[in-house]
Amino acid sequence: MSAISIHGLSKTFRGKRGARVVALKNLDLEIEQGEIFGFLGPNGAGKSTTIKTLMGLIRPTSGSALIMGKDISSPDARRHVGFLPENPAFYEYLSAAEYLNFVGRTFSMDASQLEKKSEEVLKLLDLWDARKRLLRSYSKGMVQRVGLAQVLLHNPDVYILDEPMSGLDPIGRSLVKDIILDLKGRGKSVFFSTHITSDVESVCDRVGVIVKGEMKCVRRVDEIAVGGITGYEVRHVTAGSTTPEVIQVTKESLSAKLSELQASGSQVLVVEPLRKNLEEFFVDIVRQE
Ligand SMILES: Nc1ncnc2c1ncn2[C@@H]1O[C@H](COP(=O)(O)OP(=O)(O)OP(=O)(O)O)[C@@H](O)[C@H]1O
Ligand SMILES: [Mg+2]
Repeated sequence: MSAISIHGLSKTFRGKRGARVVALKNLDLEIEQGEIFGFLGPNGAGKSTTIKTLMGLIRPTSGSALIMGKDISSPDARRHVGFLPENPAFYEYLSAAEYLNFVGRTFSMDASQLEKKSEEVLKLLDLWDARKRLLRSYSKGMVQRVGLAQVLLHNPDVYILDEPMSGLDPIGRSLVKDIILDLKGRGKSVFFSTHITSDVESVCDRVGVIVKGEMKCVRRVDEIAVGGITGYEVRHVTAGSTTPEVIQVTKESLSAKLSELQASGSQVLVVEPLRKNLEEFFVDIVRQE
């Protein structure tokens, strides 16, 4: 059973004067259990539309999806899901501790477990000192951290996160990456959206690129790294010299260049691949549109 299984999902929004926006076109996607999947796309690509549909916040125009084998039209599908919405907004007149208490009770956590987990996640997200302050006094990044705290509180199996690193400082971003890697270590499944490629590169198993409502490609991140070799950097010392020199060669000319260096008595120290990084890969796909 896949963690998330999406079949032919489409969504067309209809505006007031009959204007139609095709936000999602025939999306198919399987997220395996224990997988970390990065859903990458530029602004307006359809990432939040997909996520809102999975969470039952909007109805698809056509198509269907399952979460842990349960159809998204049933609330059962979301019982074991931690969800972080885009731009989370919470009850402003509750404190973070009160809000987590509310969330925990919604998920039927027992009182002692709830108290223990609440303390754990508030400390993890550096909100412990602010836990009694009203959420209305929180900064943007602090609100985002509350969103992440409520995601982790009830220890769900599947995590659906709409731009989890958004609004966070570098320490917060790195914390979210560590949290995602920890979830992976515990066999959890994570589906998160972003438009920042470096967020994906360091944590994801696979990445899907969505542009104008269409999934353009789904790849393993390690395959992009291997497939993306654009040339090599050769560090060598020529005969009679003691200073290393660095030259760049294309993929095709590498072996000829190495033979040439050897024939002339040069000592080759290091050959390093030059890679097209995920950022360039992503920009290429988006530009093709
Ligand atoms: N309620 C709505 N009514 C009409 N159009 C909508 C609605 N919600 C989204 N759209 C349109 O659907 C398209 C996809 O929007 P979506 O919010 O899914 O993009 P996104 O990939 O999440 O972008 P971002 O990175 O900016 O968050 C956009 O063209 C957007 O204008
Ligand atoms: Mg969005």
